[in-house]
Amino acid sequence: MVDKIKEHISEIEAFQARNMEEIESFRIKYLGKKGILNQYFAEFKNVSNDQKKDFGQAVNTLKNAAQDKVTALKEQLESTQEEKGIYGDLSRPGEPVEIGARHPISIVKNQIIEIFSNIGFNVSEGPEIEDDWHNFTALNLPEYHPARDMQDTFFIQTNPDVLLRTHTSSVQVRYMEENKPPIRTISPGRVFRNEAISARSHCIFHQVEGLYIDKTVSFADLKQTLLYFTKQLFGKSKIRLRPSYFPFTEPSAEVDIYWGLETETDYRITKGTGWLEIMGCGMVDPNVLQNCNIDPAEYSGFAFGMGIERIAMLLYQIGDIRMFYENDLRFLEQFKSSI
Ligand code: PHE
Repeated sequence: MVDKIKEHISEIEAFQARNMEEIESFRIKYLGKKGILNQYFAEFKNVSNDQKKDFGQAVNTLKNAAQDKVTALKEQLESTQEEKGIYGDLSRPGEPVEIGARHPISIVKNQIIEIFSNIGFNVSEGPEIEDDWHNFTALNLPEYHPARDMQDTFFIQTNPDVLLRTHTSSVQVRYMEENKPPIRTISPGRVFRNEAISARSHCIFHQVEGLYIDKTVSFADLKQTLLYFTKQLFGKSKIRLRPSYFPFTEPSAEVDIYWGLETETDYRITKGTGWLEIMGCGMVDPNVLQNCNIDPAEYSGFAFGMGIERIAMLLYQIGDIRMFYENDLRFLEQFKSSI
């Protein structure tokens, strides 16, 4: 009988299962109620006393072998199933990879940042919800200054000291308050103006403003910096500065680039002049420096500011500013190949 048990053991060791059902029927065959093991246990009382010890040991070994085998088979099956889960069917064609596209505003913003960082400007950011000081007063726009109407403001609740910034010049004020000259920083960000929405203007748009403050900064530095910028971004090397007015700069100017008059579109967008206005600029007003604890007798600086939407509309020939905010995939997908 002991030999028969040994045979069972080698049978168990050689057994292989392909699935859960086969493992289960194996388990029932050996360990089930009417299984082989229970039959041996029932046999025990018929075994003569001198053989009881050997027989008992053999049955126990058989029991352990069967139990261990069931556990091992289950583990084996689970791990092969896991592997299948990871690799799947390796002969299947791959899932198509959908390449996303950056928003054109982000593309142009990054280009502008890159151009200015190449000449030593860093990037500064500030809050979109501002107080009166940083958006107006520090910028030489005291209460009741008529030029406050140049930028129609959204106030938050009824508190006139809490507003949505109308330009990122507010970030420049914060930067001057916290840093000593020399300062070379650009401030990209979202700005808000209470304006009617049309093809040309929106109540939310984006700006990049620049600020350079050091001991002998001159108007010539401003002009050269802007010329470098327009060459890099538009590939155009002719600019002109027209006298203008901003409360925070003196003198102030509007910057035009010579776009050309080669196509019909050139005629249309430049109204037949060949020139396009792209930004405002000027020498920082001494009052602004003073407000930010910078001594105007020692330091001078220039500042400039431009709307990213306007630049993107020129670069990509987009006719309606509202397209930037509609999230129409047919529009956005066209920027897939851009960086
Ligand atoms: N802050 C101005 C605006 O939003 C732009 C500007 C910045 C003009 C710096 C001059 C100098 O209209």
